Amino acid sequence: MLLGATGSIGASTLDVVARHADRYSVQALTAHTSADRLLELCLQYRPRRAVLSGSAPDEALRRRFSDAGCELLFGAQALADVAAAPDCDAVMAAIVGAAGLPATLAAARAGKRLLLANKEALVMAGPLFMRAVRESGAQLLPIDSEHNAVFQCLPHEGISATLRGVRRIVLTASGGPFRTTPVERLHGVTPQQACAHPNWVMGRKISVDSATMMNKGLEVIEARWLFGLDADAIEVVIHPQSIVHSLVEYLDGSMIAQLSNPDMRVPIAHALAFPERMESGARALDLGAVGQLSFQRPDLARFPCLGLAYDALRAGGTAPAVLNAANEVAVEAFLSGRLRFTAIARVIEDALGRVAGGGADQLDGILDADARARRAAAELVHRLLGQAA
Ligand SMILES: NC(=O)c1ccc[n+]([C@@H]2O[C@H](COP(=O)([O-])OP(=O)(O)OC[C@H]3O[C@@H](n4cnc5c(N)ncnc54)[C@H](OP(=O)(O)O)[C@@H]3O)[C@@H](O)[C@H]2O)c1
Repeated sequence: MLLGATGSIGASTLDVVARHADRYSVQALTAHTSADRLLELCLQYRPRRAVLSGSAPDEALRRRFSDAGCELLFGAQALADVAAAPDCDAVMAAIVGAAGLPATLAAARAGKRLLLANKEALVMAGPLFMRAVRESGAQLLPIDSEHNAVFQCLPHEGISATLRGVRRIVLTASGGPFRTTPVERLHGVTPQQACAHPNWVMGRKISVDSATMMNKGLEVIEARWLFGLDADAIEVVIHPQSIVHSLVEYLDGSMIAQLSNPDMRVPIAHALAFPERMESGARALDLGAVGQLSFQRPDLARFPCLGLAYDALRAGGTAPAVLNAANEVAVEAFLSGRLRFTAIARVIEDALGRVAGGGADQLDGILDADARARRAAAELVHRLLGQAA
């Protein structure tokens, strides 16, 4: 089943599934408000159930889905119910943001084969989430291209297996659209410019996160929980070509990398077929045409969000949930023209300073920290808007 079917990862997943219709069938598809697109997908992929979590469907809409042979459910609880339903073996978790946590956690608790794109769920609730995976026997397969690359470079077949022999991992980052923009011009950049990623076509929220490098910060926290490594053993390096998706360094000095053209169908096909391999639809990599691969250290003055994410990871407890929630509020404010690009980091830093932390092993505590961080961030956005007027 596919949580977040109408998004960018949803589209790539369905593309891979359609190439292997003999191996996979879709049991359920979900969207938040994109009802027409969801119906089109239901007509094409014929799932038994669809969920619209964000707006109550009227009778006419229900009828259109039932004419397509599909039961239409509504609301956040329905997302969690279909994610844990016994008739589905594998769940692609591709809802964007904190909203994906309850359903993704439900799939983990139900012991599913869980393909995890919704990194925010793991950032918010790492200890709780990994405990659910261990206790239920769920199989967690990373979809983020970097974590999928690390997974492919590790010497074993299970995420929670021992990392003996691994010194550190190196997550690559493209540097986004503003890697070389003079820092003094960043305050004036527009949502359209921020969403124009040089190498990847993605949803708007993750595109802005890539432009601030908060996406890489969230990925550092995600890697901490997926692979059980300390912050000091997770390095970030800028690699503008997005060909090397990440690397693992071993104690003997060897580094193993995974390379491909930047196409999310590669990690999706890898995780769907694991431990086998199957065709993804991605273009083969032509190294002669690529020519050069380059790497550089990230500049934390240009990308303060990356430093804030390391701070939150080291602080532990609910600090990553606070970081994530404040970032979601700030990115939404930026996308709707209420906050400058350069104020995103300021809103997050302020929330981290003002919202007291707690333990991250109970869902209630995590959701409470998330709500308090959202209020703190919204207050500062409001104050900054007043100052700008
Ligand atoms: N795109 C990539 O290349 C990429 C790569 C690595 C990781 N990821 C991760 O994958 C996740 C999805 O990213 P994306 O780029 O595919 O996002 P996206 O294009 O914005 O799609 C988001 C999906 O989530 C649904 N959704 C939005 N808000 C929701 C809510 N409150 N409750 C339930 N469903 C909701 C949307 O439904 P509607 O259409 O109805 O709004 C849509 O189906 C993110 O966590 C992202 O970090 C993405």
